[in-house]
Amino acid sequence: MTPSSDKATLSFSDGAPSVELPIYKGSVGPDVIDIRKLYAQTGKFTYDPGFLSTASCNSAITYIDGDKGELLYRGYPIEQIAVHCDYLETCYLILYGELPDAAQKAAFTARITQHTMVHEQMQFFLRGFRRDAHPMAVLTGLVGAMSAFYPDSINVNDPHQRDISAIRLIAKMPTLVAMAYKYNAGQPYMYPQNKLSYAANYMRMMFATPCDDYVPNPVIERALDRIFILHADHEQNASTSTVRLCASSGTNPFAAIAAGVACLWGPAHGGANEACLNMLDEIQAQGGVASIGKFIEQVKDKNSSVRLMGFGHRVYKNYDPRAKLMRETCHEVLDALGLHDDPLFKLAMTLEKIALEDDYFIQRKLYPNVDFYSGIVQKAIGIPVSLFTANFALARTVGWIAQLNEMLTDPEYKIGRPRQLFTGAARRDVKPMAQRG
Ligand code: CMC
Repeated sequence: MTPSSDKATLSFSDGAPSVELPIYKGSVGPDVIDIRKLYAQTGKFTYDPGFLSTASCNSAITYIDGDKGELLYRGYPIEQIAVHCDYLETCYLILYGELPDAAQKAAFTARITQHTMVHEQMQFFLRGFRRDAHPMAVLTGLVGAMSAFYPDSINVNDPHQRDISAIRLIAKMPTLVAMAYKYNAGQPYMYPQNKLSYAANYMRMMFATPCDDYVPNPVIERALDRIFILHADHEQNASTSTVRLCASSGTNPFAAIAAGVACLWGPAHGGANEACLNMLDEIQAQGGVASIGKFIEQVKDKNSSVRLMGFGHRVYKNYDPRAKLMRETCHEVLDALGLHDDPLFKLAMTLEKIALEDDYFIQRKLYPNVDFYSGIVQKAIGIPVSLFTANFALARTVGWIAQLNEMLTDPEYKIGRPRQLFTGAARRDVKPMAQRG
């Protein structure tokens, strides 16, 4: 944070003295006005529900320019990372700040690979869940439970333990998601296989059974890897802010990441990919392409709560750059699997075209986001819809843990404690029962 020579002056119409507020410059992006001393100086708070104008921290990990539709991980454009790097290189970059050289990549990959198995007792913990439990419910429990299974890496004040828990989380998430899936499907868990890539190993743990050999399809392997890269981090979104807030109390990383998983589940955030596919199924059931017009009318009706899932973003007021890349992958996968004529995928492509040409969406700058296409790709690959958000959680884990570690090493970090504008009853006295009502 570089202090600017500019200052902001806040004046009051009630005659109270004005206050001067420092301004800081980031390396790119808007300046920020430092209001930390505002309450001490004026007795007033700021009011910003939804954090529309509030930077909650400083961070050097991910930069988004929503108007331009730009996303940078540690300065590198997502378009270059998606084409030139794999997911584990991306993880290294996000965690440690630089892209690995060949030796660093090999060492990091080996380290992750050696941590992919989970404690054998975890399968018995999993057995406590109903077979039909939603994978995100299961995953929230499993990730939180990691603090019970790996108590030797929960001291957040020890950088070595923090690093081990980061590696454990990145390595074990695919195993846990696959276990949640297999439990639900009633199939035996597949142990990780270390000779496979991160994505191929995950596919095998999901789709293989002990009865047959499993050969990963390279197009699908690359598509999954790209989904992971595109979801790896996204600066201070709801789940990342949840992780930071949770960890700001000093709790252990597994507990904080479990909070992130829980937050991600919501349909306005990571749950959008599942909600998007459910929406497509519903339109399909109501008549498919022919009923898109009626559906769009519902979306535009202020009295209905229907939204076009997979469209719109708090920060991107231009095409989500991840969506462009995911769209490309989507077509690659549909081609490779011969699914271009599948009615659901045709419906999605028609819906996208109609929405992009509709004034309602144009005026509000609502473009497809990454989840519109990632859901379609996952569906094409054969991943059950209920597992989509768990895959998002798997990929975002590196971002969460990197942001958590960044916060803990920031000398300015404090426990998160927002204030409020109180609108309830002022002080009053409890009346005896006979006088109430
Ligand atoms: N369908 C229809 N109208 C929409 C949509 C949508 N998907 N998104 C926003 N709007 C309208 C909204 O009704 C409002 O209209 P008006 O100005 O007439 O009241 C205007 O656009 C602004 O919307 P907002 O709700 O104030 O915007 P926000 O920044 O608070 O919400 C959002 C962002 C992502 C929650 C919202 O666009 C949305 O609900 N989208 C659908 C869910 C979705 O796809 N979420 C995934 C986000 S990307 C993955 C991730 O990072 O988690």
